[in-house]
Amino acid sequence: MACNLKHLTYSLLLFISLIGSSIADDEDLLEWVQQDNRRFLNAVLRVSNLNRTIEFYTQSLGMTVLRKREIPEKDSFGAVLGYGPEESQFVLRLKQIHEGESLDIGTAYGHFGIATEDAYGLVDIIRAGGGVITREPGTLPGLSQIFAFVEDPDGYSIEILERPPTPFPINHINLHVVDLDRAIQFYQQALGLQLILIFDNPLEQYTMAIMGFDTNFTQITTVELQYNYNVTEYTSGNGYIQVAISTDDVFTSADEVELVIQELGGSIIRAPDENNKTFSFLDPEGFKTVLVENQVLVENRLKKQRGKLQGISIASE
Ligand SMILES: *[C@@H]1O[C@H](CO)[C@@H](O)[C@H](O)[C@H]1NC(C)=O
Ligand SMILES: *[C@@H]1O[C@H](CO)[C@@H](O)[C@H](O)[C@H]1NC(C)=O
Ligand SMILES: *[C@@H]1O[C@H](CO)[C@@H](O)[C@H](O)[C@H]1NC(C)=O
Ligand SMILES: *[C@@H]1O[C@H](CO)[C@@H](O)[C@H](O)[C@H]1NC(C)=O
Repeated sequence: MACNLKHLTYSLLLFISLIGSSIADDEDLLEWVQQDNRRFLNAVLRVSNLNRTIEFYTQSLGMTVLRKREIPEKDSFGAVLGYGPEESQFVLRLKQIHEGESLDIGTAYGHFGIATEDAYGLVDIIRAGGGVITREPGTLPGLSQIFAFVEDPDGYSIEILERPPTPFPINHINLHVVDLDRAIQFYQQALGLQLILIFDNPLEQYTMAIMGFDTNFTQITTVELQYNYNVTEYTSGNGYIQVAISTDDVFTSADEVELVIQELGGSIIRAPDENNKTFSFLDPEGFKTVLVENQVLVENRLKKQRGKLQGISIASE
């Protein structure tokens, strides 16, 4: 672990010296990224039977359906679920796969985690609802964190963590990476995430880095980057799609990500323009991130509210 960090510091210095000539500008950019107003908005997962998954997430996990969209003629079914409003919380966007398609969860996506004050109690509820428990609640030797793993109806893994009360119960997403140092650097440099904790579990053969936009990982949404010893390849499947993050300025954010992609790898999927202030890219491991401008989120909210108000006035006529 110490070795990892030393290597990381070294790589970081190497990285900074590599970008050389325009270093003053780049440092300004990096500083800007770290001060940008960012939060995790949502993660998108595709499921094979939306209604069945909704039933499990609401009845066994205690989530609420925040929004639902059904357009049968377009074979389009989606829902947004979480523990609170998507305006402030990290939520899950579920999409049903199209007819005739089969869901492949792949091996690159790990799981999402839920924080609860009573992991044993929640696991009992999940069990009573017919859910599959893949790891009974317990701790790792020498550590106090109580956790368990369960599976949803598609076989997606979900971690149940016993934690103090938190405003963000959907606690993390876990992604499997083949090059942990590179992934950490990418998320620090490109997205301004802080490395909160890195720990090695030689018994179960993995090293994990927890990264977030703040430092108390029990109180925020984080991304867990997990390196499984000696695994050099993962399959991406077609289940986990992306994570979305907000920014105050998508163009400046895109500049920084592009710079880091040149150094560490990855690719741009969609550059932002004045009509569409979102920026999509793949990190060096192939995971997709979408940056969305905060102002766009505010405008969408206003549009929705106006829609609702109109709806009310029409209904009352
Ligand atoms: C899901 O359930 C709703 C009712 O709750 C129903 O209207 C809809 O047709 C169902 N969708 C599918 C794809 O079965
Ligand atoms: C994180 O926040 C929780 C809840 O407020 C608190 O109990 C805990 O001590 C904090 N941990 C750290 C490391 O600050
Ligand atoms: C597997 O990974 C561990 C930890 O990174 C390393 O110490 C070990 O040498 C590797 N084993 C093989 C066979 O590559
Ligand atoms: C912006 O582009 C994304 C990705 O192509 C798309 O999903 C989204 O609907 C677009 N938004 C607008 C407002 O056009």
